[in-house]
Amino acid sequence: MKSKYFFKTLLSSVFILIIFAAFAACEKKQDGTNDNNNAGNSGNTIKIGEYGSLTGEKATFGQSTKKGIALAQEEINKVGGLLGKQVEIIVEDTRGLPQESTTVVQKLIDKDKVIAVLGEVASTNSLAGGAVCQEKKIPMITPSSTNADVTKIGDQIFRVCFVDDFQGEVMAKFAANTLKVKKIAILRDNGSDYSKGLANFFEQTFKRLGGEIIAIESFQDKDSDFSAQLTKLKGLNPEALYVPGYYTQAGQIAQQARKAGITVPIMGGDGWDSQTLFELGKEALNGCYISNHYTIEDPDPTVQKFITNFKAKFGETPDALAALAYDAACIMFDSIKRANSTDRQAIRDAIAQTKEFKGVTGVITIGPNRDAIKSAVILEIQNGKYKFRESVKPDNTTVSVELPNTDTSSKTATAAK
Ligand code: PHE
Repeated sequence: MKSKYFFKTLLSSVFILIIFAAFAACEKKQDGTNDNNNAGNSGNTIKIGEYGSLTGEKATFGQSTKKGIALAQEEINKVGGLLGKQVEIIVEDTRGLPQESTTVVQKLIDKDKVIAVLGEVASTNSLAGGAVCQEKKIPMITPSSTNADVTKIGDQIFRVCFVDDFQGEVMAKFAANTLKVKKIAILRDNGSDYSKGLANFFEQTFKRLGGEIIAIESFQDKDSDFSAQLTKLKGLNPEALYVPGYYTQAGQIAQQARKAGITVPIMGGDGWDSQTLFELGKEALNGCYISNHYTIEDPDPTVQKFITNFKAKFGETPDALAALAYDAACIMFDSIKRANSTDRQAIRDAIAQTKEFKGVTGVITIGPNRDAIKSAVILEIQNGKYKFRESVKPDNTTVSVELPNTDTSSKTATAAK
């Protein structure tokens, strides 16, 4: 009797132990240590990595991006998060450097076990971090890297912004057709894939339209004295300068160009977009033009709602980086929802299938090359503010606003090819 009872107890203990062990195994699988596909799904959160330049030469890029993503995260978590869990964003600082981008993306994937990655801003850094994501098969969306090579890294890499062949073409057409200038000098950042690429695309289109590039001078991203290049360019009498670089140098170049006696318009790209540009360039920037991703003057309710919410949370007006970051995060969340899984392949496929997503920076469809096909805007700088001038659609139709001292008719839609 006694031994029967003993066996019964032993058997049920063993049974309980087996059940316990099975549970423990499941638990272990879920925390991602045993099963890669479930990584980043541990505990109560969905983990997404973000890498950006929070400090250094391009600090406002990373800071604005972080705010845009944080707003999107707050909104999704308020309505219950994703797949029944809250979204956690793990942010790493690249200090604006490609080597650091490689290191922090490795850390996000290997240590934090994120299921997907958002970042970087500067194309050179996205090329570095993107190579890691591609190798480790983690989907990445860059909000704002426009260099053509970024998404060519491979099938895991996406962007929600336009590409520099379009951006360069848009500005070259504006110079030729609206500003009606014929002789342009280029000053580019030779350490930046973005700057070199944009300079090339601008040159191609401007020449095709009959314009002449009278000189190409260069600098490196740590430079702060551009007097040698500017003196040389002044002697050539260009009708405009094209400076496809980042805000820290662009602001200083504008200042130094005016000091050197260059009074013609200076044109730049999205890389100028930062409040710091105005602090550095001040009134030297009046009458300069940039191409960019959105304008705060857009009356579209989606845009205005975003601006209101962003101002309420951060007490500042969102720049293009913040807007693109918000769109990238929303598309990432929407893709995870549609994938209905934290499986990386399923998320990758869902991102690739993004169609007509109504974003702040436009309606976003991810094309076969994992790029977004979108409009660009041309903004004029006046007294520390951007004024909307033109919106150029991917099919090259232009909606323009009258420029002072030009004969462009007000608010007319023109097909400028
Ligand atoms: N397009 C830039 C790059 O690829 C980054 C950028 C985007 C900067 C938008 C400012 C605004 O390097």
